[in-house]
Amino acid sequence: MAVEVDVDVALLKSEIKKTYASVSAEPEKDFIFPTGGAWAEDLGYPPELANVPDVAVESFAGVANPWKLGRLEPGERVLDLGSGAGTDSLIAAQMVGPEGHVTGVDMTEQMLDKARTAAAEMGTTHVEFVEAEAERLPCPDGSFDVVISNGVIDLIPDKDAVFSELFRVLAPGGRMQIADVTIQRPVSEEGRRNIDLWTG
Ligand SMILES: C[S@@+](CC[C@H](N)C(=O)[O-])C[C@H]1O[C@@H](n2cnc3c(N)ncnc32)[C@H](O)[C@@H]1O
Repeated sequence: MAVEVDVDVALLKSEIKKTYASVSAEPEKDFIFPTGGAWAEDLGYPPELANVPDVAVESFAGVANPWKLGRLEPGERVLDLGSGAGTDSLIAAQMVGPEGHVTGVDMTEQMLDKARTAAAEMGTTHVEFVEAEAERLPCPDGSFDVVISNGVIDLIPDKDAVFSELFRVLAPGGRMQIADVTIQRPVSEEGRRNIDLWTG
């Protein structure tokens, strides 16, 4: 069931970009959510984490471990929705190998810059990072075998738009491995309008 969300989406997006520009520029800062390599290790991230450059891992801001849902196969085409500084994309790139391909999509420029720097540092050429919004993916229909995502869809009010894009870009038989924040009880109308609750 779709939930009407009376929130200023343009303002929310600009606040989210500010928050993640800061996670990108000041990774050592204490945020109200956990970040960085020690957090990824606590979550039980796979051994490929060790090969991902610090410039990405220091700004890791995932909420859980999507790799608990399984590894990827060599040759798969992967979309990392809300790829941030690139940790999951660069883990995925190791799993799918050079015959596969990874596309990381994010709307925060500073995060994308770090992800591209990290990919260059690893010498990985089968990964690309694209500036775009999850609700309007600049990707052809049926172009991915797997969607991974960590801590992103909870930040987006129009979940129907996101999932219809994910179903559009997944190839028949494709799958999703999503780590995210969910709620057990409905949030009050006042809570849904509170931008601080969305961005945190
Ligand atoms: C909590 S961070 C997680 C980043 C990354 N997945 C990780 O695990 O480190 C959320 C990311 O989602 C991105 N994001 C939020 N809303 C978005 C949207 N509507 N479209 C694209 N990216 C979005 C933010 O820019 C940020 O980089």
